[in-house]
Amino acid sequence: MPKQKKQPVQGSIFATMSASKRAVSPGRAAETVGADVVLPGPSDKLWVLPHGSTTISLHLGDCLAGMRGMAAGSVDVVVTSPPYNLGIRYGVYDDSISRESYLDWMEKWSREVSRVLSSRGSLFFNIAGKPTDPWGPLLTAQRLGKVFQLQNTIHWIKSIAIERSSNGDDHGLEDDINVGHIKPINSPRFLSDAHEYVFHFTKHGDVELDRLAIGVPYKDKSNIGRWKSTAADLRCRGNTWFIPYKTIVSRNRERPHPATFPPRLAEMCIRLHGVSRADLVMDPFMGLGHTAMACVHAGVSCIGHEIDPGYFSVSCANVLKAAQAASKK
Ligand SMILES: C[S@@+](CC[C@H](N)C(=O)[O-])C[C@H]1O[C@@H](n2cnc3c(N)ncnc32)[C@H](O)[C@@H]1O
Repeated sequence: MPKQKKQPVQGSIFATMSASKRAVSPGRAAETVGADVVLPGPSDKLWVLPHGSTTISLHLGDCLAGMRGMAAGSVDVVVTSPPYNLGIRYGVYDDSISRESYLDWMEKWSREVSRVLSSRGSLFFNIAGKPTDPWGPLLTAQRLGKVFQLQNTIHWIKSIAIERSSNGDDHGLEDDINVGHIKPINSPRFLSDAHEYVFHFTKHGDVELDRLAIGVPYKDKSNIGRWKSTAADLRCRGNTWFIPYKTIVSRNRERPHPATFPPRLAEMCIRLHGVSRADLVMDPFMGLGHTAMACVHAGVSCIGHEIDPGYFSVSCANVLKAAQAASKK
């Protein structure tokens, strides 16, 4: 029997969704953005965008409540970045609670993620610390370790400097490289923070990945064909991923949110898990919808939750823009 495509549908509210190529929000006073497509109005809590054979469903509300309405094992990949408890100023969420309350909450929602995640699913969990609280991400990952197995630890590198001389004589660079952007830390004690963690959790630590989907070409081409596993000019990228933000100036203009990741980060996670094994992706803390935008690029269905009405409405607009751009390609 052919595998049924999972769709982010649940309960009667989705049953009313039109299958036509329109964004639909039941009961909305919608702003029209095109002949066919509407964005959510101020009282809407759900926005659904059918896109090709996939569906993007974005929910305004608490992710715990949202996930409780979803079927067990219905999600293949979760890519998310919860609040880090660093005192960041979000629109409605208070990001400065006690460590214990924070860790308890991390465990609570991750147990719900575990319930909705399929047995071969992946949770990519992005988190960062700050120089005065370097243990935060590690303690949080350790707490999620009560629920999941830690299968991989990825370092998202936002900025890096590579000296020409460090690259060897044979494969030399023309110049030194200094790429990416970071918020400089002005301190005699601490280095500016140029990375964040992406912890890859699975239920049993044994999920097969599509490593070459995000592979890189061999530097030494004599490796091609040397072993059975090296037929193509691609090797595993490893666990250091350089993904720069846009420049700070353009980012601030476009980004009414203090803590986002680039859609490219989410897309690499989805591709690493394997697009063919990712019928449904979820982001319980979707912010501006960057995971959903990645799903549009990757051609997979997505369900997102966000508690802040302002961020929710920007998410919908971002996803629509991504879908319109993808349709033009
Ligand atoms: C670190 S941000 C995520 C940013 C996102 N990765 C992006 O690139 O735009 C965390 C988000 O979680 C949201 N949030 C906090 N508590 C929530 C909850 N209980 N349910 C859903 N969203 C929540 C915050 O409003 C914030 O936008």
